[in-house]
Amino acid sequence: MQSPAGKRRKAGRSSSNLYSQAQYAQRAAQYDLELAPFEPYRAQAIAALELRPGDTVLDVGCGTGLSFAALEEGVLPRGRIVGVEPCAEMLAQARERVNRHHWVNVDLLGATAAEAPLRGQADAALFHFTHDVLRDPAAIDHVLGHLKPGAHVVATGLQWAAPWMWATNAFVLAAALYSTSSLAGLQRPWDELGRRMTGLQVHTAGLGGIYIASGRLAR
Ligand SMILES: C[S@@+](CC[C@H](N)C(=O)[O-])C[C@H]1O[C@@H](n2cnc3c(N)ncnc32)[C@H](O)[C@@H]1O
Repeated sequence: MQSPAGKRRKAGRSSSNLYSQAQYAQRAAQYDLELAPFEPYRAQAIAALELRPGDTVLDVGCGTGLSFAALEEGVLPRGRIVGVEPCAEMLAQARERVNRHHWVNVDLLGATAAEAPLRGQADAALFHFTHDVLRDPAAIDHVLGHLKPGAHVVATGLQWAAPWMWATNAFVLAAALYSTSSLAGLQRPWDELGRRMTGLQVHTAGLGGIYIASGRLAR
């Protein structure tokens, strides 16, 4: 039987999932344009995955599939991309992108990261600007449980800069209110991930308002 605390945590997660899906349903059509200023961080994050031809990579909270082209370059010719995305409108954009590029090695799963029907064990996982996912221990456990020993994991996103970086923090506040269901955890957004991996390296960019965390699962 589930404890009252467990029930409260679950209710909290499902209401934040609903809030997040409503947020992204409204943004899906213009999302790619909105993300344009952040594209250099995507390139850095995907480089840190150190993908090899034939790898399978999980793109957790894949949104409209903005990472797919660069992930394809890393895993072709025989690799696979598994995109996990609960917001139907974002997923529809991702599917349209896959069809437009005739990519035949992309599986799209319309589910939250905690509930996605993942199969087998992947070589790498990307959490690119997925703060809500990184605040959900069950989601992280589920994803990490479907990775091979030694798999590369990279997470990127917003974080609070040092307190005196008030202009950066004003930007982080506005961006987080627009794109996450809670401001909780922005001090160390990677910490739940870091608890499960030894030696997660965290780099700061964007005047302190962006982090790139990367590491490998234990072998
Ligand atoms: C800021 S967008 C990032 C999208 C994509 N990773 C990118 O880099 O463009 C955050 C995405 O995470 C998705 N998301 C939110 N909660 C999630 C959850 N519990 N599991 C999986 N994805 C989730 C949202 O629907 C949204 O598409």
